[in-house]
Amino acid sequence: MKKTLLFVALLATLPTLAQNKATISVDVKADGNVISKYIYGQFAEHLGSCIYGGLWVGENSPIPNTKGYRNDVFNALKELQVPVLRWPGGCFADDYHWKDGIGPRESRPRLVNNNWGGTIEDNSFGTHEFLNLCEMLGCEPYVSANVGSGTVEEVSKWVEYMTADNGPMAQLRKQNGREKPWHVKFFGVGNESWGCGGSMRPEYYADVYRRYSTYCRNYNGNELFKVASGASDYDYDWTEVLMKNIGGRMNGLSLHYYTVLGWNGSKGSATHFNKDDFYWTMGKCLGIEEVLKKHISIMDQYDPKKNVSLMVDEWGTWWDEEPGTIHGHLFQQNTMRDALVASLTLDVFHKYTDRIMMTNIAQVVNVLQSMILTKDDKMVLTPTYYAFDLYKVFQGAKELPIQLTCENRQVHSERGADRTVPMISSTAAIDTKGNLQIALSNVDLDNAKEVTVALSNMKAKSVTGKILTSKQIDDYNSFDNPNVVKIEAFKGAKITKDGLKINLPAKSIVVLEVK
Ligand code: AHR
Repeated sequence: MKKTLLFVALLATLPTLAQNKATISVDVKADGNVISKYIYGQFAEHLGSCIYGGLWVGENSPIPNTKGYRNDVFNALKELQVPVLRWPGGCFADDYHWKDGIGPRESRPRLVNNNWGGTIEDNSFGTHEFLNLCEMLGCEPYVSANVGSGTVEEVSKWVEYMTADNGPMAQLRKQNGREKPWHVKFFGVGNESWGCGGSMRPEYYADVYRRYSTYCRNYNGNELFKVASGASDYDYDWTEVLMKNIGGRMNGLSLHYYTVLGWNGSKGSATHFNKDDFYWTMGKCLGIEEVLKKHISIMDQYDPKKNVSLMVDEWGTWWDEEPGTIHGHLFQQNTMRDALVASLTLDVFHKYTDRIMMTNIAQVVNVLQSMILTKDDKMVLTPTYYAFDLYKVFQGAKELPIQLTCENRQVHSERGADRTVPMISSTAAIDTKGNLQIALSNVDLDNAKEVTVALSNMKAKSVTGKILTSKQIDDYNSFDNPNVVKIEAFKGAKITKDGLKINLPAKSIVVLEVK
């Protein structure tokens, strides 16, 4: 009798054991594309306290700073190896007149930031402050020009001001203290031109793009990489019309995709959510893959040689604003859930690097899915910062296709869409030093997974790892408690005859270096 009971009990555990296993195979000699480092791009907008208080406090601030840039934020970004920084918007870009932001700071005009909460913009952070910051960080600037409310002449002169050696604009720049031109490669011709950037129809915008970009010239060897303002999410017609009518006149075409809960007029709380919300969010985040495939297939029809790159220059989570913060400033907290949205999305981007050259998570400090949050002189690094920190080894690495089998979870939601969410996400690549890097995310909130990795064409000799996880999925780093979620050493990977065996904790992100 006892034996029968034991047998029945064992049988009951069998499906769970199977569910909690996953297999991955990686051929380290397989052909893969280089993961452009610009996929790890950031975005700084004149929105809330992203610029003022976040990146910039001014030289006279009591907050420790170098030439006006706050030291704590600067050092954290330097550590993250930011490859490219987009500026000044977003919606702000099509309201921005660059001449307001040059010359002596005390005489720059004060204006209302009509896009974002009606805050006073004093223009103390302008072209010089931005481009000098990029030089100090060692990253490429990505400047978004105003085609919504600005003139062709204004845009054309801005390029001249930033990049020409000689001429009246170069002269003006020199008067303002900068002798040498800056190097500016990425140049956005408008932002969300279908919406806040001018409410245009795609046919009309295609012509606007052609006209404005004609006057964005290359001066003394600086070659602009011109990016057309692309679609939002599922607007495939926008991509089609631009590919047909702009074609090779653009170097890049942008796309925006945000992960929101989008239910009943609310975007959902950043910190208060249940299991159903969590899995639904994972599904929504993974929905980016279908969206990418469809935009890419349209681009492939018109541009089979892949001369035009796809630039996902806004992505990330967008939750309800944090209670008690200024309306229109889009300040939100950032939990372990956000870190998983980051790792899952980056895993998807890695698969399409033959078309995707750049992505920019929104935004770098204090707005939406930020790397960093600040309050007066305090700073915290978010779980998303740590996900980017773990993943920085993938910048410039050679992607390796993987085969992954794992349990899927069906998510049925009152929100409408049913989604299938794989419990494991993974990516593998050979980094710039020649080492194998494997990232694994376990989105299962309750169960650890035993992951078997089969390696072809490699005999592993050593494996080291780092992990990002938390006790609760809604854990976050606050100004009073800044170290709740942070990277730790990971000891759960063992070398086997054929590869690796990994005990991957629930709700975790692990990156392994295999030699
Ligand atoms: O990231 C916030 C806003 O979202 C950007 O300014 C705009 O481009 C998008 O609608």
